[in-house]
Amino acid sequence: MSDACGLLSPGNWPLLAQSSGSFWLPGQESTVAPEMDRVFYLILIVCTAFFALVVGLMGLFIVRYRSRPGSATAATASHNTVLEITWTVIPLGIVAVIFWQGFRAYMDMRTAPPACYEIRVTGQQWSWLFTYPNGHVDENLHVPVDEPVRLTMTSKDVIHSLWVPDFRVKMDLVPGRYTSTWFRAVRPGTYNLLCAEYCGDQHSNMLSSVVVHPAGEFEKWLKDAANYTKNLPPVEAGKLLYQRHGCSQCHSIDGTAGNGPTFKGIFGQTHALAGGGNVLVDENYIRESILEPQAKVRAGFQPIMSTYQGQLSDDDIANLIALMKSLGQKPGQGQP
Ligand code: CUA
Repeated sequence: MSDACGLLSPGNWPLLAQSSGSFWLPGQESTVAPEMDRVFYLILIVCTAFFALVVGLMGLFIVRYRSRPGSATAATASHNTVLEITWTVIPLGIVAVIFWQGFRAYMDMRTAPPACYEIRVTGQQWSWLFTYPNGHVDENLHVPVDEPVRLTMTSKDVIHSLWVPDFRVKMDLVPGRYTSTWFRAVRPGTYNLLCAEYCGDQHSNMLSSVVVHPAGEFEKWLKDAANYTKNLPPVEAGKLLYQRHGCSQCHSIDGTAGNGPTFKGIFGQTHALAGGGNVLVDENYIRESILEPQAKVRAGFQPIMSTYQGQLSDDDIANLIALMKSLGQKPGQGQP
């Protein structure tokens, strides 16, 4: 995310995403925006009309009924039933219309459709993290166009507030609980996402973007973005995978004993199996052990590993094998 210097450099300023708004409001880029704006304009027009009426009549009465020399003081009327009913019923009707319009817009805004695309949002001092269903974490919010998206949000520290002006979406992120909001973007583009709750001295730097992808391109973006190992050498990629997929909880890379065999020097060894027999630790055995951990369990270890089928691609497995190979090979060394 931008630091203070990034803010001063316009090229790094996410707020430069220009929206096609009117004088009063930013562009209407979500399905609830037109409804929200209708309520805003209704209230604006009603307030302006009553302001003009009250101030206009006041001015007129000041001039018309001002005290003149010699004019007699008229007796003040105590009440006028018709007038009083009129000025009660008309405002009541107007307020009822405003309530109904506002309530309907609010319910539409709060009630997410049943089949939403879910994205997890974490707010922290002072950045946003968006976690996608495949585990990818991004600093910007990427969404498909024309699909309902539901955000499940929480904060790591203090209260933040996610605000996308073009979507008319604003919702607090509260530490220790989940809040949610939803929207359906109507046009591909890049929109501003801001924090709208003062959360510390870098609050104004808590800027990010919503990227709305054209139909069919979101899935492609997500797949590429999640493929963080793509441009790394295999051993480096293997190390990252080893850390992010939790291999390190059971398998050390420095020879330390754990719940699973250490990866150090493992490639090329011959292992005794729990069910009897031996196996050579080669590419195919490693692959099988990752995808079907119970197939051939090494003697001296419990069958506690769960499968990584569907979590690691063939490329990922090749990268992990490269990591193991890089940790030394001891061909022919049989260890239990
Ligand atoms: Cu986070 Cu202001």
